[in-house]
Amino acid sequence: MGKLEIRVARSSDEADLHSALGPDIPIEQIRARLDEAESGHRMMLVALVDQRAIATASWQLLMEDESPLVRLFALDVGERFRRRGIARSLVAEVETEAVQHGASGVFLEVAVDNLAAISLYEKLGYVQDGEPFVNEWTRRSNAGPETVRELSVLMRKPVLPA
Ligand SMILES: CC(C)(COP(=O)(O)OP(=O)(O)OC[C@H]1O[C@@H](n2cnc3c(N)ncnc32)[C@H](O)[C@@H]1OP(=O)(O)O)[C@@H](O)C(=O)NCCC(=O)NCCS
Repeated sequence: MGKLEIRVARSSDEADLHSALGPDIPIEQIRARLDEAESGHRMMLVALVDQRAIATASWQLLMEDESPLVRLFALDVGERFRRRGIARSLVAEVETEAVQHGASGVFLEVAVDNLAAISLYEKLGYVQDGEPFVNEWTRRSNAGPETVRELSVLMRKPVLPA
């Protein structure tokens, strides 16, 4: 594998993300993420191999009990590029952003049957918080938006100030 680089997503990453993440992630979903990032509703990172975007993660700074926290979401690594530490690097980058933005921790929601992701987060020090709940999100495809309901758990990790 070529050298790994992580940077903020650009709208010009759309085609590379589509070729790496499709068909699991429809092009409409990728476009919606890039549009939200452009309009400032989310921060979106991409991981590049040989200068092509092949993985992505998004984050938002939120307030919880007056304390800033980072929500990590939409972590996807192209199937051909998995098990090479790319998700680990993207999560580490989001944690660095959390520290730089004065957040006390990072949290995420993960489906209870997503054993690969749960194993990744546990390895990185995330701990389940509370009971499973039904998480709802909108999946976009050429068939239009569809509400997905997944039994999920919240996982958290504190980050230390710089
Ligand atoms: C989950 C996902 C993001 C992991 O990406 P990745 O780049 O392959 O992960 P990494 O190579 O950084 O893995 C780091 C560690 O996570 C764990 N892990 C990753 N994939 C795993 C799998 N399929 N089974 C078990 N453990 C796994 C391992 O402990 C791994 O360390 P190791 O390779 O040294 O054993 C990727 O499989 C993916 O994109 N899946 C589909 C989308 C998704 O589920 N996203 C998360 C939503 S919350």
